[in-house]
Amino acid sequence: MILNIPELLKPSQITQARELLEKAEWIDGKLSAGAQAAQVKNNQEIAKNHSAAQQISQMITAALAANKLFAMAALPSKISPPSFNRYESRQTYGPHIDNAIRPLPGGGLIRGDISATLFLSNPEDYDGGELTVEDTFGTHQIKLPSGHMVIYPASSLHQVKPVTRGVRLASFFWIQSLIRNDGQRTLLFDLELATQGIRQKDPQHPSIMSLVGVYNNLLRQWSEI
Ligand code: NI
Repeated sequence: MILNIPELLKPSQITQARELLEKAEWIDGKLSAGAQAAQVKNNQEIAKNHSAAQQISQMITAALAANKLFAMAALPSKISPPSFNRYESRQTYGPHIDNAIRPLPGGGLIRGDISATLFLSNPEDYDGGELTVEDTFGTHQIKLPSGHMVIYPASSLHQVKPVTRGVRLASFFWIQSLIRNDGQRTLLFDLELATQGIRQKDPQHPSIMSLVGVYNNLLRQWSEI
């Protein structure tokens, strides 16, 4: 499932994030790429221990914790600390699939089930730079307003098209989900949305209890903690 999570950050938070990122020191993005991805990666990133990165990371982590749509769609068990990238002057990240397993800063590992991109630049401030994600329905070109985030299966082949004008700033990170399988996760999301739809029309509807029961029993069968 490819899903837009609108308005994850408030306009004041986006302004603050951009101000911090504009002052930050950027390094070659190849340094954080695996051998295959490094061949197609041409962008800039902020070192993980940079104070600006840590400050905005905390802001994003708090916004994710408060976002109900994200919780419903991703069913997160672990989230990697948000990282940041910058593309300008025809910089691009060619087709690749993200690494499956990554170390977490405090120790331990995270399996990337879901990839997330949070757009921090206004779409009118740059040309190109679409996030392109392939799935069974074809190719999706994604370029969202600043503060909006897209989540997509980390197993997808994806790329960032060359930025031909202006600067594209974004945050990216990975989610390990309680539900590893994208198809199962999508079914649970659809079931939850359908149940909410009935609840809004008729909070006393007798089917709500059985739908909530089915949701929880599927979650019990499929989840990994
Ligand atoms: Ni990627």
